[in-house]
Amino acid sequence: MALNRKIAVLAGDGIGPEIVQQAVLCLKAVSDKHSIGLEFEHAYVGYAGYEKKGQCLPAETLELCRNSDSILLGAVGDPRADKLPPAGQPERGALLPLRKIFDLYANIRPAKIFPALIDASPLKREIIGDGFDFVTVRELTGDVYFGKKDLDEKDTWRSDLMKYSRPEVSRIAKKAFELARTRRNKVTSVDKANVLYASVLWRSEVENVHKQFSDVSLEHMYVDNCAMQIVKNPRQFDVIVTGNLFGDILSDESSIVTGSLGMLPSASLGDGKFGLYEPIHGSAPKYAGQDVANPIATILSGAMMLRYTFGIEEGAKDIEGAVEAVIEHNRTKDIMSEGKKLVGTNEMGKLVAKEIIQRGD
Ligand code: IPM
Ligand code: MG
Repeated sequence: MALNRKIAVLAGDGIGPEIVQQAVLCLKAVSDKHSIGLEFEHAYVGYAGYEKKGQCLPAETLELCRNSDSILLGAVGDPRADKLPPAGQPERGALLPLRKIFDLYANIRPAKIFPALIDASPLKREIIGDGFDFVTVRELTGDVYFGKKDLDEKDTWRSDLMKYSRPEVSRIAKKAFELARTRRNKVTSVDKANVLYASVLWRSEVENVHKQFSDVSLEHMYVDNCAMQIVKNPRQFDVIVTGNLFGDILSDESSIVTGSLGMLPSASLGDGKFGLYEPIHGSAPKYAGQDVANPIATILSGAMMLRYTFGIEEGAKDIEGAVEAVIEHNRTKDIMSEGKKLVGTNEMGKLVAKEIIQRGD
């Protein structure tokens, strides 16, 4: 079936291969159920790429990505990579280039509390209330991450330039307002405009874009206050839009308040349908190969892929519904609680895949 739905599968390092295997199993279940002809092709990335092909982002891996409709990524990072030159390490040598090369400037990171896992949140019950559900839209291809790097000859100082241009801010703001329209119509733009000039421009450009989205409410918040508000009153947020560095920090905070780092997916998108989908957590090398890692964040990243790249909403809902059903009774170690059945990575994947097939339409 030549439906042109090709997925580059980059399992990566640590627990990457195990969790990706389960996500592929679940995507295959959706593909069979709805006859959507997903095709999968694997390639090495991260330290695994360095070991097998001499580079964290081997040329053939990049070529596969170019010839695919989306990328499913496990995780990159391995302590053995510390010996590599900084520019060649998995993060700087593979992950950041992938984002930049494909111009995946919008990183969508949902922070949603699963009712079955409320007790796992470090927040007090009265703060959680009946749950929260917000999304961080993080700019992903600019800011200090990609700003000019400098050092003096004697290496007594180094610097990374924080820079944003109006077009960069404009396109990410647009994504955030569009997303808010599909949700609760509220955008919180996070910056440090009381100190940083880059933030002053950020704020003014977000306001410019807002003129086309007057049905969506907009508020501005300083990043330090936002970090506090996420633990004080997370229910106030719908869509948070922010720069690369602030988004990196706030999205980790946002994920841990849900109590389930192993459950949260992400999507990195550009202007077209192409996207890179990966769990929010890292490669957790010390848990690799033990069948203990939670594959759900990667499985749910597959759901985001169905939604954003392939536009197959019913398949995305199948995966999300199956996950909610399965975790009622079955738990991996990270989300285990009394009275539930402890399952490993493989079994969790199999249970979700089975539930996907069995679910009614
Ligand atoms: C993330 C990660 C990456 C980032 C690292 C691994 C380079 O922390 O995706 O949030 O800082 O963007
Ligand atoms: Mg991060």
